[in-house]
Amino acid sequence: MSEMKGKICIITGSNSGIGKETATNLAKMCATIVMAVRDQERGEKARTEIVKQTGNNSVDLMICDLSSMDSIRRFAKEFKRKYDRLDVLVNNAGAMFNKREVTSAGFEQTLAVNYLGPFLLTHELLDLLKSSAPSRIINVSSGLAKNGKVDLDDLQSEKNYKGTKAYSKVRAPVYANTKLMLMMFTYELARRLKGSAVTANVLMPGFVTTNLGKNSGSLSSSIMFKMVRPMQVSAKTGAETSIYLASSDIVKDVTGKCFAKKRETITCPESYDEEIQKRLWNKTESMLGLAPE
Ligand SMILES: NC(=O)c1ccc[n+]([C@@H]2O[C@H](COP(=O)([O-])OP(=O)(O)OC[C@H]3O[C@@H](n4cnc5c(N)ncnc54)[C@H](OP(=O)(O)O)[C@@H]3O)[C@@H](O)[C@H]2O)c1
Repeated sequence: MSEMKGKICIITGSNSGIGKETATNLAKMCATIVMAVRDQERGEKARTEIVKQTGNNSVDLMICDLSSMDSIRRFAKEFKRKYDRLDVLVNNAGAMFNKREVTSAGFEQTLAVNYLGPFLLTHELLDLLKSSAPSRIINVSSGLAKNGKVDLDDLQSEKNYKGTKAYSKVRAPVYANTKLMLMMFTYELARRLKGSAVTANVLMPGFVTTNLGKNSGSLSSSIMFKMVRPMQVSAKTGAETSIYLASSDIVKDVTGKCFAKKRETITCPESYDEEIQKRLWNKTESMLGLAPE
């Protein structure tokens, strides 16, 4: 375990599950933790527990709702006002929904939280990550990405929305599509960051007992999640790869890879399609109103 004292780490969705375990373990290693969460009360409860458990008082709480691009921009601005460096960004927050709903900015919410949000947050913090290099970006994807499809003509799933109910029918839900997009974003980002000493890797945490899917709004998927509980690992085990990628010296120069159980792993053939990665990147920039680099 490497020393993390003096390192500043942002972990999104760190009030529960894998994100909370990641924050707790990095706090134990003496890192400064910035918990980027959407709910003040849930966040404060988790922050208090982490401080109590680790004895590390450098655990900050900042509001960042990944479904709101305005909230992400506000968070990044405020973070840069408070901190002059960023060593580790863990894009951990994620969600799944049964029904198609759009955010106030008009984005389908699974896409917004799992893909557009991390894309924008990374974009907004990239200058700081570069000036703090060596630094690390870690994206939490899912093994379900292999069931995903990237339909560049329907990124918002207007024509074809499959919610969490799709799990019980062995169809690929929109969640899987967004996790594939996050994977492809990581590979493209790593290429664009070559030579900058900022690494970008993606991981699959395994099948983990957390709050994920509990409030997705589908009875069949809630029953399905209960049934599979015995097959799931604990959040502590699920967080191991995130902690490893954030802190281990072994991976300090590794970039553009996917990890599972702390080992490099191969992902589905679609994920490596550079042509689609580039087109997806360009389309995302235009959806978010970002100027091409
Ligand atoms: N559990 C698994 O088996 C599994 C498998 C593969 C991948 N993953 C991925 O692992 C990551 C962590 O999930 P988890 O399993 O630990 O589930 P979790 O306990 O539900 O944690 C998800 C976190 O994301 C946050 N979040 C959700 N929507 C958000 C938003 N709009 N803005 C900001 N934060 C938001 C949640 O905050 P609230 O508490 O406020 O809702 C929570 O802190 C996710 O990306 C998930 O897709 C999980």
